[in-house]
Amino acid sequence: MSIAVALDGPVGAGKSTIAKECAKRLGFVYIDTGAMYRSIGLYCVNNGVDINDDNAVAAALADITLKIKPDKEGQHVILCGNDVTDKIRTPEISMAASRVSAVPKVREFLLELQRSFARTQNVIMDGRDIGTVVLPDAKVKIFLTASDEIRAKRRYDELVAKGEQVSYEDVLKDLRKRDYDDSHRSAAPLKQAEDAVLADTSELDFDGSCALIENIIRSKAGAL
Ligand code: DC
Repeated sequence: MSIAVALDGPVGAGKSTIAKECAKRLGFVYIDTGAMYRSIGLYCVNNGVDINDDNAVAAALADITLKIKPDKEGQHVILCGNDVTDKIRTPEISMAASRVSAVPKVREFLLELQRSFARTQNVIMDGRDIGTVVLPDAKVKIFLTASDEIRAKRRYDELVAKGEQVSYEDVLKDLRKRDYDDSHRSAAPLKQAEDAVLADTSELDFDGSCALIENIIRSKAGAL
């Protein structure tokens, strides 16, 4: 039986970097479901699909092919034959991803793809609804969070390091808006699963956060 770790939480809690590192240490495959929503957002932005029109977004799905190729460094995302792994990481696409993720047809479109990864291999899957909807029977469920200000600072540093021109205030504002929208939509909102362990990394650095998550996984999953 394969082991699934569902790692959910708000924007900038460190899910992807921590999950990637823990997956490496434990020999699990890391699956980033946010990248899938980002790809749909990117497709809409690039093809003139109005992201505020649910029907238009749902109709566009017929033209979208999405392949996720996990590898040792994370995963590659292939949208309609093009590798968009780096293109989906801009603030504009973050907002578009949040918007299209509220469309129920988009969530349906991605659900089977997401579940398929957990059937045959050990995975750490990160997202918003992994423990509640995608993998409700996951052996390990973790809800990762940190204070708004700390999450915004981490996201700001990340964007600046990539050469993006952003202000801390805008990053904090965008993050709060995305958190609000992600937790208040009717389709699979961001929320802690009842049986998830709450992990707050506000006071922890990267190594401390990885150690915390690795310990939770080891203690819940048994011998690995
Ligand atoms: O984790 P992320 O920032 O890359 O996710 C981008 C957006 O996708 C996020 O604002 C909400 C949405 N998302 C979702 O609704 N469900 C998931 N399982 C993962 C992401």
